[in-house]
Amino acid sequence: MNRRYRKTIIAGNWKMNKTPAEAKALIEEMKPLLSKTKWCEMVLCVPFTDIQAAVKAAKGSKIAIGAENMHFEKSGAFTGEISADMLKELGVKYVIIGHSERRQYFNETDEACGKKVQVALENGLRPILCVGESLTEREQDVTMEVIRKQIKIALQNVAVEDIKKVVIAYEPIWAIGTGKTATADQAQEVCAMIRHTIAEMYDEATAEAVRIQYGGSMNAGNAAELLSKPDIDGGLIGGAALKPDFGKIVNYNK
Ligand code: 13P
Repeated sequence: MNRRYRKTIIAGNWKMNKTPAEAKALIEEMKPLLSKTKWCEMVLCVPFTDIQAAVKAAKGSKIAIGAENMHFEKSGAFTGEISADMLKELGVKYVIIGHSERRQYFNETDEACGKKVQVALENGLRPILCVGESLTEREQDVTMEVIRKQIKIALQNVAVEDIKKVVIAYEPIWAIGTGKTATADQAQEVCAMIRHTIAEMYDEATAEAVRIQYGGSMNAGNAAELLSKPDIDGGLIGGAALKPDFGKIVNYNK
């Protein structure tokens, strides 16, 4: 199997931006730009408070709505948290797990990410598991070890029949929101290693079916080059997903 058999997946991560009214307006503006797209799947991961408005606004389009986080417990005394079944009931299809901002500001560990991935899958949500190295880790030449550990721990309990539902997003922390994109070759090198790690954990055919995204200052100008690489199956896009311009990335035609 090669790249052609994996459907490209372009996802936006709105982070802590947009009120429900703003979400509705932006999706309405994006919709006509996206309607022609056949070659890829589109996802918008939005703040919890925007989910209902986003699902309604995206109705009848090819945009799937995702969440940016969830808790691994089903219910209980976890003030301020949101469970997988709460998301599911609102029409959420994808959920970002372990974004570097959650790891950095909210102390999320690989173990916690692993539990979240499991619970998301059990509830029929598709996890987008984020991994990535810091600038120091890249400079000290430990990128591959760091990412292998993140993958191996977060996916340790995922069964072979479920792993194809997981999307992995490689997001070098130094490239997030900095305007400093990894070169297409740097991104390809890590994405290929991620696929190799999945092959080690499962098997070659399974690894060939798993989709791997790049994220970090990706935009309409640099997407084509990144997406031309054999192991980069999509993008996880922050800043550039907050504008209707997002449509240009999605409409990039290979
Ligand atoms: P930017 O595209 O703004 O660099 O953000 C990337 C990101 O963190 C997506 O999850």
